[in-house]
Amino acid sequence: MKERHLTDQSKIIDGKKISSLIKAEIKSETETFKSEKKITPGLAFIIVGNNPASKVYVKNKGKACEELGFYSVTETLSEDISEQELLEIIYRLNSDLNIHGILVQLPLPSHISEHKIIEAIDYKKDVDGFHPVNAGKLLIGDKCFLPCTPFGIVELLSRSNVETSGKNAVVLGRSNIVGKPVANLLLRKEINCTVTVCHSGTKNLPGICSQADILIAAIGKPEFVKKDFIKEGCVIIDVGINRIADKNSKTGYKITGDADFEDCFDKCGMITPVPGGVGPMTIAMLMKNTLQSAKGEIYG
Ligand code: GUN
Repeated sequence: MKERHLTDQSKIIDGKKISSLIKAEIKSETETFKSEKKITPGLAFIIVGNNPASKVYVKNKGKACEELGFYSVTETLSEDISEQELLEIIYRLNSDLNIHGILVQLPLPSHISEHKIIEAIDYKKDVDGFHPVNAGKLLIGDKCFLPCTPFGIVELLSRSNVETSGKNAVVLGRSNIVGKPVANLLLRKEINCTVTVCHSGTKNLPGICSQADILIAAIGKPEFVKKDFIKEGCVIIDVGINRIADKNSKTGYKITGDADFEDCFDKCGMITPVPGGVGPMTIAMLMKNTLQSAKGEIYG
């Protein structure tokens, strides 16, 4: 690895550190809320099948609940559960007064409609922000649950004092989980970016990226963004979590983002590392949404 000057460290947006700070804030707010209102924020996880990555994500989210003093339950369901059985579990959790947030870990097996399952969740408990009511409210700028990764991204920008108003933000990727919601969030008046969304049909992608003051990479292509794509001083938010072969690692692989960190480092203004950038923020914002739900701050 290339030697770096110490001052370069200031270019790294440390998601691990920022998410720890946010979690500490939530923990203290939760203690006060619990002692004043005698209500414990409650979060239900549903995991279907044996996807190893999903298992790790749900385990880490459960750990965060424990750390912050939340109540949590995990429904671990077999791969062949029917759509109807899964719907029944959601209906039960919708009416459970101890549960303020419901999270169905995606992806689901192909015989189950993700769309139908997400719509079945009470939008007032949709702490993932995936329900069409929350997605629509995000679009029109109403108060709603914000999807956790986009929420984490804007929190990273704000806590790193990145100026957003009037800046060109380019989003790579149009997924419902990251690309589309983060584009809508950056468009909001209080953030005020000029937003371009690029996708697999985009022509001249490097040309568009080179206009970006803020580049959000969420396309799932390892080390796709190179220094030739970016403008000097650009802030790179790397949402990618990709496994690539690495002979030097004990596990035989390493985790990389959608940006080539080493290649872009000198030219960019700031950059999130992978791991330790956006990833930890997603969990912190899930906890924030759940606490807000328990307090009735979004839907009363
Ligand atoms: N799968 C990948 N990311 C997410 C997420 O943020 N929430 C849920 N429920 N599933 C996911």
